[in-house]
Amino acid sequence: MCGIIGYIGQKDAKPIIMDGLKRMEYRGYDSAGLAILNGKSVKMHKKAGKLVNLQNEITDKDLAGSVGIGHIRWATHGAPTDENAHPHTDSAEEIYINHNGIIENYLTLKKALEEKGHEFYSETDTEVLAHLIEEYHKEVNLEKAVAAALKDVVGAYGIAVVSTKEPKKIVAARLGSPLVLGIVNDGEYIVASDVSAIMPHTREVVYLQDGEICTLTPEGYTITNLTLEEVDHTIEQVDWDVSKVQKQGYPHFMLKEIMEQGDVVHDAIRGRLRPEEGLAHLRGFIEHADRLKNIDRLIIVAMGTAMYAGMVGEYMLEEYAGIPVEVESATEFRYRKPVIDERTAVLAISQSGETADTIAAVREAKLKGALVLGVVNVVGSTIARDVDAGAYSHAGPEIGVASTKAFISQVTVLALITLFMGRQRGMSVVTGQRIAKELMELPEKIETILKQTDAIKEIAERYADSRDFFFIGRKYNYPIAMEGALKLKEISYIHAEGYGAGDMKHGPIALIDEDFPTVALVPQDSVYEKTLSSIQELKARSGKIIAVATEGDTAIDSIADDVIYIPKTLEMLTPILSVIPMQLFAYYVAAKLDRDIDQPRNLAKSVTVE
Ligand code: AGP
Repeated sequence: MCGIIGYIGQKDAKPIIMDGLKRMEYRGYDSAGLAILNGKSVKMHKKAGKLVNLQNEITDKDLAGSVGIGHIRWATHGAPTDENAHPHTDSAEEIYINHNGIIENYLTLKKALEEKGHEFYSETDTEVLAHLIEEYHKEVNLEKAVAAALKDVVGAYGIAVVSTKEPKKIVAARLGSPLVLGIVNDGEYIVASDVSAIMPHTREVVYLQDGEICTLTPEGYTITNLTLEEVDHTIEQVDWDVSKVQKQGYPHFMLKEIMEQGDVVHDAIRGRLRPEEGLAHLRGFIEHADRLKNIDRLIIVAMGTAMYAGMVGEYMLEEYAGIPVEVESATEFRYRKPVIDERTAVLAISQSGETADTIAAVREAKLKGALVLGVVNVVGSTIARDVDAGAYSHAGPEIGVASTKAFISQVTVLALITLFMGRQRGMSVVTGQRIAKELMELPEKIETILKQTDAIKEIAERYADSRDFFFIGRKYNYPIAMEGALKLKEISYIHAEGYGAGDMKHGPIALIDEDFPTVALVPQDSVYEKTLSSIQELKARSGKIIAVATEGDTAIDSIADDVIYIPKTLEMLTPILSVIPMQLFAYYVAAKLDRDIDQPRNLAKSVTVE
């Protein structure tokens, strides 16, 4: 949700900023801009649309300078136009600012500034901050001005600010929006929303914390709080494999990420299973084992795909660990009055670890005294740092806006948590051993589904002209029906709804006719016959059925119009297999319609605003 970058050093800032924006393009892509300082002179370019528009605009421009800031936008306040693109500047055109987040009290601040004579050119909340900093900067240096302005602000921000009055300086700050400092050399630094923009230049990073300000000059860097007192920080090494953020010959990141899923399961369980003892070894959870043993309720908070993973976790944990579990959209959790005490655990699930709603739910749960746990992919992200304990999902960088491999890794880690908590609460060694064994067999089974890619593509292309789809499933596959519908909506822009198979007769079935196909998840599990009956009801109304069924199920052949087979596994692990045909189906429908698969309209990868 917007990517910001700032570079200061000895090299030309322009290529470093443009490369960083390219790497963060998944965060937002409706406009982009940059400002480069060369001594006291500054050149700014901003363009609506994809990053390529900015690239074309600046190709033959002389943008020499070794200090600069860049921005890639996902619009919140104001349409995606050249005027609303960042950077924004003040009345004197001395201050240039990039911002990721929302200044909630910007209208009040704007009114006060207008009364002082400031004029505004954009509809953004960010421009207000530029003018506010200008006011303070009349008297004090840039970092003091930024700190003073931020004290007036209500909202969330990750910002990078430069000033022509102090052209060899970048001031960056964060509250609720991620910001990472990359230390390239003494006097050469990159600050960005995401480590992916920093990785080509250095592996040494500092994850800035909320309320911190970072001042970068050729003489060095300082990290302070809002009262400009220096704070302790840790330099960390990023161990991401750079090849993981390249397409490696695939037409889209999404397809590459789908194809990686066998390895993803392998990585998520590596070193965490004791198959002989039927145990899961989760370091963070072991540290809180006593408290976990005594909780009498677990609330899972997450958004979107991560929430559907949480729903699978709910079924697993209730069935195998006997813990009452509720799954809640983090947006709702934060604004009602959830009843929580020290015997409640709250588990946040997030790929990015930066989803604003999930962060707020984590903080609310902590305030109320719950034990707060996390399943997060991005190492060092806000949620990973905020929780009491957690287990990384180890999916590696996920670039496609539509989440695929992160989901599979989240469900795999939830299976490990089920094993851990189940064994604490009376699960037998034999059951534990069975779950461990089945988990270890999953990567191979995933490969057999991926080998059917061509067949799934052929089916998807035949249905690509449909205007609506239902996705149905039951029990463990109910969340997969929701996820299948979400995937299709996100990247193909086709209307799709996920339902419990048994829910159809309570209303949705009224829509069924020969032009309204249904993707039915019907593996041979404990609700197989029930789901089959629901499918028959749709067939009886001329509905077309694309079934996802277990290998060897011949009965489904005579009922469904098309069948995609998945290998047999333990019922609780079926979602890890059945979701793959959903992802491939959505992918190939979208490809047939020539959609922008990795960067679908109106979306951004990390939703770091409310
Ligand atoms: C999934 O395809 C979506 N892009 C979206 O629903 C996503 O899962 C959600 O925004 C949560 O993101 P997070 O896992 O980074 O917290």
